Amino acid sequence: MDVTPGSTGDAGPSAASITLEGIRKRYPDGTEAVRELSLEVKAGELVVLIGPSGCGKSTVLRMINRLIEPTSGRILLGDEDVTRVDPVQLRRRIGYVIQNVGLFPHQTVSANVATVPGLLGWPRERTRRRVDELLELVGLDPAQFGRRYPHELSGGQRQRVGVARALAADPVVLLMDEPFSAVDPIVRTRLQEEFLRLQAEVRKTIVLVTHDLDEAVRLGDRIAVLSQGGRLEQYDTPAALLGAPASPFVREFVGADRGIRRLAVTPVTPEVLDPLPAGGTADLPAVPLGTSAYDALAVLLTSAADHAVVTEDEQPVGLLSRDRVLALGQPTD
Ligand SMILES: Nc1ncnc2c1ncn2[C@@H]1O[C@H](COP(=O)(O)OP(=O)(O)O)[C@@H](O)[C@H]1O
Ligand SMILES: [Mg+2]
Repeated sequence: MDVTPGSTGDAGPSAASITLEGIRKRYPDGTEAVRELSLEVKAGELVVLIGPSGCGKSTVLRMINRLIEPTSGRILLGDEDVTRVDPVQLRRRIGYVIQNVGLFPHQTVSANVATVPGLLGWPRERTRRRVDELLELVGLDPAQFGRRYPHELSGGQRQRVGVARALAADPVVLLMDEPFSAVDPIVRTRLQEEFLRLQAEVRKTIVLVTHDLDEAVRLGDRIAVLSQGGRLEQYDTPAALLGAPASPFVREFVGADRGIRRLAVTPVTPEVLDPLPAGGTADLPAVPLGTSAYDALAVLLTSAADHAVVTEDEQPVGLLSRDRVLALGQPTD
């Protein structure tokens, strides 16, 4: 099945939910990497796993595609138990992107992207069309980049090829282990933005691992915070996580500047507005309803105003005070 652009809002045609039921991983040397984890990821949802180094994030991902076997527990894709599926078949239905991409150095970009379709025995012409389509989707001109080798690309371009390769056979799930951490911060931000646009088109079920809270907040529909031993500390939307940390661990983890982060993920909604004044609002700066509180605050600060007019379809609907904006950054716990 091919990617269907423009199908925003719903899960893509072939996205599957992921259910982890009490999974546990004890390595042969006795390390209890994951003691007992249950987690559900809805079809088409992007869930971020975050937590300190060694807390078991990569172990969880590698159990989902069965690069390693859980010691106990069940993992479902849709309603299918993955431990009953041949692992090689399974991995062809799951895209996997890792930190240093793992492109084959002696193969061209096109050949790299064509890896899984090749394994699946797709006809040459179908594979070629699919490769070109994916390179375009990740912002690389096929004519220009298809024949290059990985060493002829920048880090960011290699990362895009890695994503294209992972999507090539239209997997039901995409697993990404610190996919953007090897590139510099400016490129990283751009890749994250592109990636969000891509996800709006393809609507895959994605589990992405990071240790970068800003990345988690920017990308995640929901964020699962893990502590040592794969313990699930909190599983929530970015706004809920920043606004109401569920444990001292999470509070510590989300850190002191969470007020700012919370503003960035909290939209201006009708509930926080005051009525429009009778005398008109001609001199006040305007912000559209739904703007992030962070951007609204920036408008207020740059125009040195205490209030902004909030608009919907360019019509004023209420007044937003600076105090109300600042209150949106306060924790609710
Ligand atoms: N193959 C292995 N054998 C033994 N211990 C391992 C193995 N792989 C990872 N671990 C240990 O399991 C724990 C979780 O590792 P990992 O899942 O890589 O954490 P994270 O990705 O969160 O940094 C760590 O203590 C790590 O040292
Ligand atoms: Mg890891």
